[in-house]
Amino acid sequence: MHSYKDLGLVNTRDMYSKAIGGKYGIPGYNFNNMEQLQAIITACIETNSPVVLQVSSGARKYANQILLRHMAHGAMDIIKDAGSNIPVALHLDHGDSYELCVSCVESGFSSVMIDGSGLSFEDNIALTKKVVEYAHKHDVTVEGELGVLAGIEDEVSHEETHYTKPEEVEEFVGKTGVDSLAISIGTSHGAYKFKVGPGEEVPPLRFDILHEVEKRLPGFSIVLHGASSVMPEYVEMINKYGGKMENAVGVPEDQLRKAAESAVCKINIDSDGRLAMTAKIREVFVTSPKEFDPRKYLGPARDELIKMYKHKNENVLGSAGKA
Ligand code: G3H
Ligand code: 13P
Ligand code: ZN
Repeated sequence: MHSYKDLGLVNTRDMYSKAIGGKYGIPGYNFNNMEQLQAIITACIETNSPVVLQVSSGARKYANQILLRHMAHGAMDIIKDAGSNIPVALHLDHGDSYELCVSCVESGFSSVMIDGSGLSFEDNIALTKKVVEYAHKHDVTVEGELGVLAGIEDEVSHEETHYTKPEEVEEFVGKTGVDSLAISIGTSHGAYKFKVGPGEEVPPLRFDILHEVEKRLPGFSIVLHGASSVMPEYVEMINKYGGKMENAVGVPEDQLRKAAESAVCKINIDSDGRLAMTAKIREVFVTSPKEFDPRKYLGPARDELIKMYKHKNENVLGSAGKA
């Protein structure tokens, strides 16, 4: 058993309650490799922002769970060495089983998500409660999810039923004891969030649902997934340098800013990082075709990521200066 406390990490309790009171959002940034982790840490040190480092089960398989623990430990040493004390949580993103959550807690995670959103309401409660009972014994915080994030392939009529039902949230939180709740208000995962025709605007997020949830759970921590803006400059760069990402559209930044000022205390961003890295790597490959040293394309990609994360912390989430 490796306790996150020995790694210098914190759970999400204090950082979330400060974020709600302070009307900003904590970044939930996913990483799979060294360059992404370096960029997240550098951007958050430089902007003095708290951060939730997110690892999906796919990332865990890709990077190796033992290496991930050491990477997170190393990141904490780098933060200390830089004279910073930003709070950092290591979080399992979209955990799909009790066993995976237990394994993450045992390997040093300070926070886990159990995503039972695809289950029936009753089964979601039962699974989430079981994870909470285990995690809380180790002072690890738990995120649950109610409502399914709509996918672009879904029928419109199905999308309606995927939104979080505000009338369910009190019972879910009361019966499970979760520390935070991911809700579905119109965001979705990936780079193709909305079908937008020529001259059409991206449909606004369902702030009415968010406000109803806030009313029913005053002061409770809400999490927004699928919150990449699919930054147009990166999509353009990718397409300019040989990529093919037509009709990639994300959540406008002003809507995320508005969400961050509410009970939404963590905002998950993964795709924008993937796009920034891919755009820069493609640019180097096309403009310097003789280059074959990975540092010469991963380095510029890492620099671009730092710029992008700093922009998010400063101008979108409002987490800069809140560590
Ligand atoms: O919400 C999903 C995250 O973007 C992680 O994606 O499962 O491909 O690592 P992944
Ligand atoms: P994006 O695909 O919009 O970056 O969402 C990431 C996410 O929700 C991770 O859990
Ligand atoms: Zn997600």
